[in-house]
Amino acid sequence: MKRRGVVVLFLTMLLSNGIVTAQDILEISVQSDKPGAEIQPTMWGVFFEDINFAADGGIYAELVKNRSFEFELPMTGWRAASKQNGIGRMVPNFYSPSRPLNPHFMRVYIDPSAGTFGFTNEGFRGMGIRKDEQYNFSVSARLSENSDIKMTAELITSSGQVIGKSELSGFSGDWKSHKAGLRASATEQKAQLRITLAGRGSLDIDMISLFPEDTWKGRQNGLRKDIVQMIDDLKPGFVRFPGGCIVEGRNLGNRYQWKTTVGPAEERKMIINRWNVEIASRQAPDYFQSFGLGFFEYFLLAEDMGAEPLPILNCGMSCQFNAAEVVPLEELDPYIQDAFDLIEFANGEVTTKWGGLRSQMGHPGKFNLKFLGVGNEQWDEQYIERYKIFEKALKSKHPEIKLVSGSGPSSAGRYFEYGWEELKKLSPDLIDEHYYMPPDWFLKNATRYDNYDRKGIRVFAGEYAAHGKEGTESESRNTWWSALCEAAFMTGLERNADVVNMASYAPLLAHVDAWQWRPDLIWFDNLKTIGTPNYYVQKFFSNYNGTKVVAVTSGGKNLTGQDGIYASSTIDRKAGKLYIKIVNSTDHHRPLTLTLGPLPYAKTAIKETLKSGKDDFNSIADPKAIYPVTTPAKVTGRKIIAEAEPLSVNVFIIDFKTR
Ligand code: AHR
Repeated sequence: MKRRGVVVLFLTMLLSNGIVTAQDILEISVQSDKPGAEIQPTMWGVFFEDINFAADGGIYAELVKNRSFEFELPMTGWRAASKQNGIGRMVPNFYSPSRPLNPHFMRVYIDPSAGTFGFTNEGFRGMGIRKDEQYNFSVSARLSENSDIKMTAELITSSGQVIGKSELSGFSGDWKSHKAGLRASATEQKAQLRITLAGRGSLDIDMISLFPEDTWKGRQNGLRKDIVQMIDDLKPGFVRFPGGCIVEGRNLGNRYQWKTTVGPAEERKMIINRWNVEIASRQAPDYFQSFGLGFFEYFLLAEDMGAEPLPILNCGMSCQFNAAEVVPLEELDPYIQDAFDLIEFANGEVTTKWGGLRSQMGHPGKFNLKFLGVGNEQWDEQYIERYKIFEKALKSKHPEIKLVSGSGPSSAGRYFEYGWEELKKLSPDLIDEHYYMPPDWFLKNATRYDNYDRKGIRVFAGEYAAHGKEGTESESRNTWWSALCEAAFMTGLERNADVVNMASYAPLLAHVDAWQWRPDLIWFDNLKTIGTPNYYVQKFFSNYNGTKVVAVTSGGKNLTGQDGIYASSTIDRKAGKLYIKIVNSTDHHRPLTLTLGPLPYAKTAIKETLKSGKDDFNSIADPKAIYPVTTPAKVTGRKIIAEAEPLSVNVFIIDFKTR
């Protein structure tokens, strides 16, 4: 009686203040005592593709662009420093057939009358340098006959001020790697590396590298710590890599071949990045793939984050939006062998060829690969024919690996339906669906999976993002409205976790000065990394994921947009946590009464809220314009009286005692 009295008093206060009318109060029932379908630990993951300078210039911490002169135009990123540094000649087109994977190198001549010569590398839209941090410089060099040369490596600001310096000598007539450390005396967003040679003669140089000492987990050839931290904070259930269209290539010669991305960094054969010229309005002629971040590093990243690795392999087809090349069915063997070898690389004994390479690279333990994708956004008969062959080979040799097939680039239509129909006759474990659609589509599709076959093939919602309004700032397409509509849609994914076993927003990363595609989940510049509102929505779902679905209804019906409200709920009985997500897509307050199933709840729950104006977005300058706000929520017996503010996404986190 007493508790009921408090509830009535609170509502009466709201009513008498004219804030709500009785019919506005939404009565929601949460059947937390009757958990339903299981939620896979892989439910919420990340999709990584090297687009928008996500790898080189992004998460891969190398600061030197075109470090081994393998770009099509070998001087890309490099230029002679100003005359004060002396004069000389840079000849970057030396080609050594004995090193087919990294044949080019540069010969630098010093003019005998000047005695010094300097040149700079501009980095990836500059180099982000942090005060007091250590930077590791290395260069592979060979001295020509009758030469005597010393080298100075410097970090310089955009105005030419030196903020770090180190000297190297002892070059010989054999190729050898030389190293030096540089400590930065200032922070600079767009620094450059300047190398000055002093002495006489000429020096051959290659693999000129500059890494921050402080990488993710302190690894050499490592990853940019702040970006990985943002991804890790999502607690992703899986990491899909390496894409995306990059798997397919604009043509087959340009496809992603995992074997060329493992082994010593200097032996990974660089290729042009397919996003280099793909988007007419966002051309990036200096976009290549050094593969410094290769399959070994992707596996390691997934392992570090406790996520399942999900590699996607080319299935003998290049991008159907581009050259659309296909490998004849009778010549698919090398592609299938790549899949077998990848499984061996990840899971094989160290005594095997590829398991041995994994071990040599520093990881004798297995990566425990469980999932493999066959093809990215392929469609029509050409895909099904090839997928069939892959499936037969992989299922017979590796029945333990779950196969991910694709349904093409669209969320509906002829190719999508044909793909599903044909795949149903086969045995993929998951079908990848992609939807880059307007925000309203996401609202309308909150019920998309309610009627999927509960016993059919599971869905991997592998690439999705609401594409709405955009402005001039790079980050401007990640509006609050797009994020809110995705949240509404994700309540549908969560409610249908028996059908949808994996989901990932796409793309994951973008450099504010070098992007090709937007919106993206996380934006960065050379020093900072920010989460978009879409990121915080993803975080709500992946951090508060639960292990089983709980029905959440009003008037006996799922909340799928009635009066603009969407909801889903999950429970983790072992951890004693109940999560309720409520999205209010309207511009008015919505008072709620949540009635929970009988469990021994703590008296105070937590409510996390994201809200903002429709067109608002986070930017590097204002990274937390839209950011979760935490407030307490009183649990009175089995009731919570709360509200969903206008245009808000809310998660209630309710603790209960486990027995
Ligand atoms: O995420 C960007 C691109 O969108 C992916 O590369 C591709 O799979 C899709 O078309």
